[in-house]
Amino acid sequence: MSKIIVAIDGPAASGKSTAAKKLAELLGYVYLDTGAMYRAITYIALKNNIVDDIDKVIKAVKGLDISLKFENSVTRVFVNDEEVTDFIRTPEVSEKVSEISRIPEVRTELVRLQKQMSEKGSIVAEGRDITTVVFPNADVKIYMNASADVRTERRYKEFIEKGMDVKIDDVRENLKKRDEIDSGREISPLRKTEEAIEVDTTNLTVEEELTKIVALIKKAELNSHHNSLK
Ligand code: DC
Repeated sequence: MSKIIVAIDGPAASGKSTAAKKLAELLGYVYLDTGAMYRAITYIALKNNIVDDIDKVIKAVKGLDISLKFENSVTRVFVNDEEVTDFIRTPEVSEKVSEISRIPEVRTELVRLQKQMSEKGSIVAEGRDITTVVFPNADVKIYMNASADVRTERRYKEFIEKGMDVKIDDVRENLKKRDEIDSGREISPLRKTEEAIEVDTTNLTVEEELTKIVALIKKAELNSHHNSLK
């Protein structure tokens, strides 16, 4: 079977990670959580107190070795062999990550890595510029969305389940601010391309959304198989 690329973009907490993880497990594809990479750099910048110094962030990013390991439904994230998995989804990192992600040099470096990670086989990748910049030739392109209320509740629940002390209004505000920066930035903004199929998860269960996407992937697998026989 030839290699299939599934690209998923969408605003924060729209359900991309949940869907992408399950799809990867179900289909035996590699799962690529690109947001985790931007978060890892943001965490390192915060830790080294350079988060507001663009030149220092650019210099740092070039010397970082970022790797991802998807195990037991969790993306483990490593920076120069230090595991940062537990530190990248905090409100502090969420607060700064969109500022770091708008730096062109940071994006160039991470996009290069992301393309490399797709060389191993079929992949399901999610983020903000996957359908447009990272894998513009993806076999399946999805734009995930959900109402602001549903996205806020989902993210708030995740924080509470992890025992984090957050206020729902702060979560709502952070999602809104990130979406504005992520969609409004000059380089690789989040946008729905014409070819992308929109999946609105506001009123869908995870099973319903997976059924929809798996059908699209199966069709792409068949097409790819058919083309390889020509
Ligand atoms: O998917 P996430 O919410 O964990 O992503 C965190 C931030 O990283 C998001 O607000 C913007 C940035 N990001 C990006 O700019 N491009 C991507 N492909 C993925 C994430």
